[in-house]
Order: sequence, then C-alpha cells, then structure tokens
Amino acid sequence: MNYGSRKDVKKLLKNGLVTVNGDRVKNGKTHVAPDGDVIMVAGEEVVYVEHIYLMLNKPDGVISATEDHLHDTVLDLLDEEHIHFEPFPVGRLDKDTEGLLLLTNDGQLAHELLSPKKHVPKTYYAKIDGKVTDEDRVYFKKGVTLDDGYVTKPAELTILKNGDGSEIELTITEGKFHQVKRMFEAVGKKVVYLKRISMGPLQLDPNLSPGEYRPLESNEIDLLKGR
Ligand code: URA
Repeated sequence: MNYGSRKDVKKLLKNGLVTVNGDRVKNGKTHVAPDGDVIMVAGEEVVYVEHIYLMLNKPDGVISATEDHLHDTVLDLLDEEHIHFEPFPVGRLDKDTEGLLLLTNDGQLAHELLSPKKHVPKTYYAKIDGKVTDEDRVYFKKGVTLDDGYVTKPAELTILKNGDGSEIELTITEGKFHQVKRMFEAVGKKVVYLKRISMGPLQLDPNLSPGEYRPLESNEIDLLKGR
C-alpha cells in the first residue's frame, strides 16, 4: 500500500512504527486480516486496497499487452507504485491507435466489460482518407460485411466533418480484430487516425495527454460496475 519494498517495511517494523489493533508489531511474519485488523504505520491507518483501476490515454507506438519482445507496452508508461498491483489492459487497441484504455487487476470487471454477451459500446473518433457519406452511415447501421465475410453488429456512425478528409465518430458494441479499420475498408476508405474516446460509461478524460494516466474516481468505478 505504498509503504515501500519488503526491505523498507521490515525497517518500519524494526523501528517500532507498525501497530496491529493498537499493539506494536515487529515481526514481519505476523498474519493480519486486511478487512478486519486495524494496521497503523507511524500513527496513520493503512487503507487496504486490492484492486486498482487506471485510465490511460494510450499513445501511438505502444502495445496494449503486458509483455512484448520488441516494443514498449502500456505497462512501461506506469509508475512503480501502480505496477506492483499487476494491472493489465482491458482489451486491446492497435499499436497505432490512441485513447482510452482501462488498466486494472480486477479480473471479474475486465471479463464483464469484454464479454461479447454484454455488448459494451465503444466509441472511436477517426480521421478518414476519403469522403464518408450518409450511405455509409446507413450501411454501418445495418451491419457491414468485413473482408472475411463476417457481418458486424449495427454501428452508429456520426459524420463530424466531410470533405477531402472526413472526421467521424463510430460506436460499436463488439471488438473484432482491427474492426473500425476494416469497416471503413469495406466501403473503400482508409482510417488514418484512430482514437477511442469511450468504453461503456467511461469517457476519456480530456486532460490526459497521450501517454498520461490517472486512477479512476470512485464514481467512475461505480459506473463501470453498474452501481
Ligand atoms: N478498431 C481498430 O481497427 N483498431 C483499434 O485499435 C480499435 C478498434
């Protein structure tokens, strides 16, 4: 809980700074119940948290995985105080996709957000090489046939800017491989910039620059858990 390494904590114990239910404890082998016992360090109560929830604005060029032989992963962007909770990314964004990526060590929540049965909506902002038309919008609403024959679930396409290059927002409720890029390929257009701006009730914080992250606020965690 951010009191340092095992070695640091042994020092705190040895120096008599740790109490459990009011009794000074010096032995690091002492067993405690995190949700029952009151543990204090230098007079300050230790608040035990099991799960962490981090909102990252994923930058271009990093992999949304916990390990990669060649490239930096999203974990390389985190501070040690968060890494020791062993968070992992909830789903994947392509290496060149930016935007909202949730990192957590709460396997149950991750599972629920990723379950195909839950149809969690994900909204993307994209720049498109080519003119996106109202016909595309209608087609996306019906379902797009991808290169492998798969027909996507209905998707909501909003055209923000239309000209030589277009800007759009697209909401999909599934997560097929390269889905947004392939949906536009199906109508002969190319995604040249892609950024996820929301996932379920969670919106990307506009104050986070690419590469920055912050812990979720408690109301955001409640929203995600449907409370
Ligand atoms: N769709 C894509 O094509 N790429 C992503 O990273 C996310 C959705």
